[in-house]
Amino acid sequence: MKILVTGGLGYIGSHVMVLLLERNVEVLCIDNLDNSRLEVLDGIKKITERKPLFKNLDLKNKSETDVFFKEHSNIQGIIHFAAHKAVNESSKKPLLYYNNNITGLLNILDFSIKKDIPFIYSSSCTVYGDAKSFPINEDALTSNPKSPYGNTKLMGEQILKDCFNAYCKFKTIILRYFNPIGAHPSGNIGEFPLGTPQNLIPYLTQTVIGKHPFLKIYGSDYETEDGTCVRDYIHIMDLAEAHIKSINYLISAKNKKMYEIFNVGTGKGSSVLDVINAFEKVTGENVPHKFVGPREGDVPIAFADVKKINSKMGWKAKFNLEDGLRSAWNWEKEIAKKS
Ligand SMILES: NC(=O)c1ccc[n+]([C@@H]2O[C@H](COP(=O)([O-])OP(=O)(O)OC[C@H]3O[C@@H](n4cnc5c(N)ncnc54)[C@H](O)[C@@H]3O)[C@@H](O)[C@H]2O)c1
Repeated sequence: MKILVTGGLGYIGSHVMVLLLERNVEVLCIDNLDNSRLEVLDGIKKITERKPLFKNLDLKNKSETDVFFKEHSNIQGIIHFAAHKAVNESSKKPLLYYNNNITGLLNILDFSIKKDIPFIYSSSCTVYGDAKSFPINEDALTSNPKSPYGNTKLMGEQILKDCFNAYCKFKTIILRYFNPIGAHPSGNIGEFPLGTPQNLIPYLTQTVIGKHPFLKIYGSDYETEDGTCVRDYIHIMDLAEAHIKSINYLISAKNKKMYEIFNVGTGKGSSVLDVINAFEKVTGENVPHKFVGPREGDVPIAFADVKKINSKMGWKAKFNLEDGLRSAWNWEKEIAKKS
């Protein structure tokens, strides 16, 4: 089997490529290194003794993207990760987000539709905006994501829905990720953001290793048990496995066309303070932290109803919050050894 992974050198894509290569899938990877590093390929090689075929390509560039597809025609599946993903940054630079996330999607979809290639799309729990009922299931309202980033994810879903309605052979699975954390158990790949991380866990581990004086906790009087935001933290290896299940689901489904949405989470919510306490417990390290004001685009609570993916694909998270935090800390120490 030959699978194209866009944004494959990024956090989630790199873990998915490892699982694909371990299953002897031929993997093509497109990435423009906007938020990733070429060394990720070495980390993948250490784990799998193989590398994907890599092309440094910006998906916004339609003519170069078309050339790539002319050279690689017999692709049997596309997993589309390539996008900008920082909620807060997107509120300051909306056009950057709309341009990158939507243009890239359109350019790659063009090929997927012409060649009838099944398409897996990375969406996000941000599409639910400020949900009112928990756990959040796939039928919950998605009308008001709280940021341009969330809007791009929801627009992507809508574009895919329109393609499903228009083309008789179009097959797509939309995965709405909750909050991925942790790293590959080997310590060879993990979340390696360029610049200051926007997500809680890499900021936390960078703080503990000494790169920041303290962890900022955005907001202390949300309507949650301890006043801090609640999220559903899903281990990256579990999340990666959900993509393998999705490919199998797409292949084994008899339907000519498909448009299905699945949440990917653990079904359990943890507050920022829960995360800090769990981290201190599993690592024995102290997390210096300070409360600051709430951050634009953050919602108080988000955790998933995962019944659908469990019953239809047989996928369930195997790891818990502590496992994710332990592996994230191991990875941060590996990064420190490299630098
Ligand atoms: N990490 C999360 O918390 C999270 C949560 C929900 C959804 N998602 C979605 O999952 C996907 C992957 O997220 P991630 O955490 O791995 O992000 P990431 O930034 O680590 O990886 C994205 C990769 O895409 C590449 N890229 C971006 N724009 C590109 C373009 N125009 N052409 C080619 N490559 C491009 C980047 O260089 C990067 O390597 C994204 O679509 C994101 O919106 C992520």
